[in-house]
Amino acid sequence: MQDQIEQLVARALEELAGTPAADLDDWRRRYTGRSGELTGILRGIGKLSAGERPLAGQLANAARQRLESAFEDRKTVVEAESSADVEAIDVTLPGYRPVVGGLHPVTQTLRDIRRVFANIGFRAVDSPEVEWDEYNFEKLNIPRDHPARDMWDTFFVDNPDRPGEMLLRTHTSPAQARVMEQTDPPIRIITPGRCYRYEDVDASHEATFFQVEGLAVDTNITMADLRGTLEYFARALFGEDRRIRIRGSYFPFTEPSCEAEMSCHVCGGDGCRVCGRTGWIEMLGAGMVHPDVLEGVGYDHRKYSGFAFGMGVERIAMLRYGIDDIRHFYRNDLRFLRQFN
Ligand code: DAH
Repeated sequence: MQDQIEQLVARALEELAGTPAADLDDWRRRYTGRSGELTGILRGIGKLSAGERPLAGQLANAARQRLESAFEDRKTVVEAESSADVEAIDVTLPGYRPVVGGLHPVTQTLRDIRRVFANIGFRAVDSPEVEWDEYNFEKLNIPRDHPARDMWDTFFVDNPDRPGEMLLRTHTSPAQARVMEQTDPPIRIITPGRCYRYEDVDASHEATFFQVEGLAVDTNITMADLRGTLEYFARALFGEDRRIRIRGSYFPFTEPSCEAEMSCHVCGGDGCRVCGRTGWIEMLGAGMVHPDVLEGVGYDHRKYSGFAFGMGVERIAMLRYGIDDIRHFYRNDLRFLRQFN
C-alpha cells in the first residue's frame, strides 16, 4: 500500500505542475475529491488487518495533506500568472475611440448669438413658453379678431379658468411686454427661446423653432441704433464684409416696421443660389417699438423710444451652415448631427 500511495502522489504532483488554471478543479476532483483516487485508497484501509491500519492511515493522510497543499501552491502560482497577463497591456494597439457627443447646431448658434449680443451689453432673459393671449398678442397691439393674428397660427392650451386665453407663444415678442412691465429704462435685453406655431411643416417651416428677440429702450433711441446693432450682429456672425439693408414691412408692435437683409455671405452680393440671385438675404423682422406698446406697459412714449427685432435661430443656423431643410434639425439623424461636432 505504501508503494501505491507514493506512486500516486508522484504521478499527481507531476501532473499538477503542468495544470493550467482552468483544469485545476478537475485535477482535484480526480485525486483528492470524494471519488478521487486517493480517497479510494483511504477507503480500502478498513479492509486491512488491525496491525497494518495505523501506518497506512498515517501515510494516506500525509499524502492527502501534501496533495492539498501542492494544489493551493499551484493555484497561487497560476492566479499570479493570469493577473500578470492582464497587466501586460500592449499600449501600441489601437484603442476604442470613445463616442463623444456634441452641441446641436441650433444650440451652437444660440450660444454664438448670445455671446455677440452680450459683448454690446444685451442681457439674456427668459420668458414663459406657455403664455397668455394678453402678452402674446394684446399688449403687442394685436387685439382679438385683428386680421394681423393670421400672421401667427396658434396652438391654444385648455385652461378651464380662462378659456381661450392660454397658448403656446408664437414668438418671443411677449418677453418685450414682460420685461418692460418689470423694469424701467434703459433696457437692453435679448430673449432666446422656443416658439410654437400651428404650421404645415415643410422645408422652411417647423411647428416648433427658436427665436431670439432683442429690445432696447432709452431716451433718444433711433432707427440708426437699430441699424448699427444689426450690422454689428451680421458682421460678427457672418463676416466683416457684410452689409445691411432695411426694407419697409409691417408688424403691429413696431412703427415703422422693417425687415433687415444682409448682403449674401456666399457670393458677397453678386447673386447666387443661396440668395436667390438677389445678392441679399432676409435676416429678421424689426422696427421701432410702437407708442401704443410703450404706453401699454406704462412708459411715456414722448420720453422713451426703443427698437426691437426678432430672428429665427434655425434660419440663421441654416444660413451659416448651408442647410437647405429646416426639418433636418429635429430628425435626430446622427449622420446630420455629427457634422457639427
Ligand atoms: N415677432 C415677429 C415674428 O415672429 C418678429 C419680430 C418682428 C419681432 C419685429 C420684433 C419686431 O421684435 O420688432 O414674426
